Amino acid sequence: AEINPRYRLQYHVAPPVGWMNDPNGFSYFRGEHHLFYQFYPYDSQWGPMHWGHVSSPNLVDWKQLPTALVPEKEMCFSGSAVVKDDTLVLLYTGRETTDVEPFFNETQYLALSDDGIKFHKYEGNPVLSFTPNGSPDFRDPKVWKYEHYYYVVIGSKTLDERGRVLLYRSPDLVKWEFLSVIGESTGEMGYMWECPDFFELKGKHIFLFSPQGMEPQGDRYKNTHQTGYIIGSFNYETYEFVPESDFQEIDFGHDFYATQTNEVDGKRILIAWFGMWDVPHPEEVDGWAGAMTIFRELDLVANRVTMKPVDAITELRTETVFEGEFLEDGVIEFEKTGELIVKGDLSKNIELEIKGSNGGGQVVVRWDIETRKVVVDREGDVRQMEWLPLKSESWRMFLDSSSLELFCGEGEVVFSTRVYPDGDWRVTNRSPQPLDAVAYKLRRSVPE
Ligand code: FRU
Repeated sequence: AEINPRYRLQYHVAPPVGWMNDPNGFSYFRGEHHLFYQFYPYDSQWGPMHWGHVSSPNLVDWKQLPTALVPEKEMCFSGSAVVKDDTLVLLYTGRETTDVEPFFNETQYLALSDDGIKFHKYEGNPVLSFTPNGSPDFRDPKVWKYEHYYYVVIGSKTLDERGRVLLYRSPDLVKWEFLSVIGESTGEMGYMWECPDFFELKGKHIFLFSPQGMEPQGDRYKNTHQTGYIIGSFNYETYEFVPESDFQEIDFGHDFYATQTNEVDGKRILIAWFGMWDVPHPEEVDGWAGAMTIFRELDLVANRVTMKPVDAITELRTETVFEGEFLEDGVIEFEKTGELIVKGDLSKNIELEIKGSNGGGQVVVRWDIETRKVVVDREGDVRQMEWLPLKSESWRMFLDSSSLELFCGEGEVVFSTRVYPDGDWRVTNRSPQPLDAVAYKLRRSVPE
């Protein structure tokens, strides 16, 4: 069947056909960034997992590579990558179906490549198959090297269904030793912790993970599942992570899950699935579903992790389509894609109505002076969060054929939301004030 192009994203990584979920194996090998992803090529719904593969010189322009991993007796669930002796090594979860309850088992597998394109699975798989409590939920290894050892954090749960994350180490990626529990839910923090990540940022350790099924609390945890972080400190002698913050969501939009980071030129760069479980994916009728967010750089400011688009994103700008005073009821139109930066007087309300030029895909973005909240209202389905600008008072918005990403200030509040317009984008200033605005057209940077 032909892919219907109406919602195809122009500068976000998406599957050529079929289904995509989590980013995997985000790494740098022989002069290129590599990104893999959970992929089912034969249907636009989830199925036995493969690893799709793209590469990029700059985190903005992406090229399609052959499917890296194909399921055999194991489905190829999420994982990560590390370079060892000039070989790109993938460490992923092999999920097998069994005859006995709970009818599945998850263990960790290796696959290797000399050229970064063709991968072969290690003969001695699985290399890591024990959880301290025997839980079969054991997935999404995130590996890194520190001094003489490889370390990995892996998602799991307690036997009474509380999410937890385990830390192991290995001298060679084959023999693994259990070290500690990095974190564990007290009960309110979800029944399973997926896609953990663990890294240093400005002298602190950030424990980033995706807890499944936290109950909504006011504006928080309104999605089916969440993604967020705990700031703390970590000691490579005791393997103990000491939390110094609560759990904070890292993105407040409707569609954001299962992050993965990599260090690039000393910066911590993040990518996430621009999607969510158990919600409609309207593009699935068009033969594909799911996408990645744009790449973001993390920082730690005033006890929170901020997230802003990577600098290289400006390479997408082709022309300035608007610059100056965006008047009340003024309209800025974008041909499918665009970047819009606006700044208003925060002592008055701000409201932008964004929708398709032929209707559909309506989303209203607001600053509410009563509540001091930024609101992203997608046809009545509201996500909102308090915003105290750290430094900059502007909003930076990225529109693609079926998506909106909003970065407030320095990225202290971010919303990623899929939205499906009919035609091109039309942005109307519904604020009771003119806004300072600049708008750019953005070019295509991913394969058709
Ligand atoms: C997260 C997740 C992972 C798993 C993968 C399967 O979205 O559920 O825990 O490895 O997706 O596709």
